[in-house]
Amino acid sequence: MGRLELPYDLWQDVDLAAPAITLNDAQAIPQLGFGVFQIPLDETRRAVSDAIEVGYRHIDTAEMYENEAAVGEAVHASGLDRSEVYITSKLSNGFHRPEDARRAFEGTLEALGSDYVDLFLVHWPLPTLYDGDFVSTWQTLEEFKEDGRARSIGVSNFEIAHLERLAAESVVVPAVNQIELHPYFQNREVAAYGREHGIVTEAWAPIAQGGVLDDSALIEIAERYGKSVAQVVLRWHIQQGNVVFPKSVTPERIRQNFAIFDFELERADLETIDGLDRGEAGRNGPHPDTFAYIPS
Ligand SMILES: NC(=O)c1ccc[n+]([C@@H]2O[C@H](COP(=O)([O-])OP(=O)(O)OC[C@H]3O[C@@H](n4cnc5c(N)ncnc54)[C@H](OP(=O)(O)O)[C@@H]3O)[C@@H](O)[C@H]2O)c1
Repeated sequence: MGRLELPYDLWQDVDLAAPAITLNDAQAIPQLGFGVFQIPLDETRRAVSDAIEVGYRHIDTAEMYENEAAVGEAVHASGLDRSEVYITSKLSNGFHRPEDARRAFEGTLEALGSDYVDLFLVHWPLPTLYDGDFVSTWQTLEEFKEDGRARSIGVSNFEIAHLERLAAESVVVPAVNQIELHPYFQNREVAAYGREHGIVTEAWAPIAQGGVLDDSALIEIAERYGKSVAQVVLRWHIQQGNVVFPKSVTPERIRQNFAIFDFELERADLETIDGLDRGEAGRNGPHPDTFAYIPS
């Protein structure tokens, strides 16, 4: 498939009160969502309900987070129509074989209490496992897209070599690649590959799990705008065109992280944040080439 011209200039024209990005399959994704990694099952329903109350309409969960059912409960309890909340989930590392992936996907839909998911991702490529075969896993997700139970499909933690293999050996171009990305680890090559190939970058750990909040350059910018460091960093992501879904169990932070559409960072401040990149040294999470975790 040739280069897709769809998504990447769109954020510049977007209505900042309700930003959405159009994916390469023409589906729209809210650019700001709510992440639920590491939120225990018994807290997830309350946190997601708080987020929906604040105005979030995009929830990012995963089979490995073991809280999909609570996400589904919160969405149902909100009284909103299912179509008003964008839900992403991800295939567990333990279920890459096609038969397992099909069963796991049915489990995801059941846990969410929904007959479809807006976006389903291969969570990790695991190139050292399954004989290095993540292509048949991806082709299984293509079935879910084809039968409509996944409105969009994408990948997570895929490096350029992994994406190139998919391009050579499969049909559907991933709609997104969800990768670690924050001011200290800007993951520039992978994000640029996405831009060139119509794959939207979703930035996980957008505030480096809190690791960037004490940065003096960010504090200086935040003080000038009268915003928190977290708000400034999330705003930087939005102006880059990244999709983000900060996680918090704290009601005040859940509100704060959503209040980022009433200001705009100036070019010089964006460049200062660009300059904080530490390259590979800034990575917090595992490297996708070697990560080989399978839940027990
Ligand atoms: N695909 C993947 O492999 C992958 C990996 C990691 C994450 N993700 C996704 O990305 C989402 C976000 O990443 P993440 O959860 O790792 O990290 P994150 O959103 O960068 O940071 C979350 C941490 O920051 C704190 N925090 C949030 N807002 C704050 C604020 N305004 N001020 C101060 N502290 C604040 C939270 O504390 P409290 O909760 O205590 O308030 C929590 O400790 C996840 O929830 C998940 O959906 C995906």
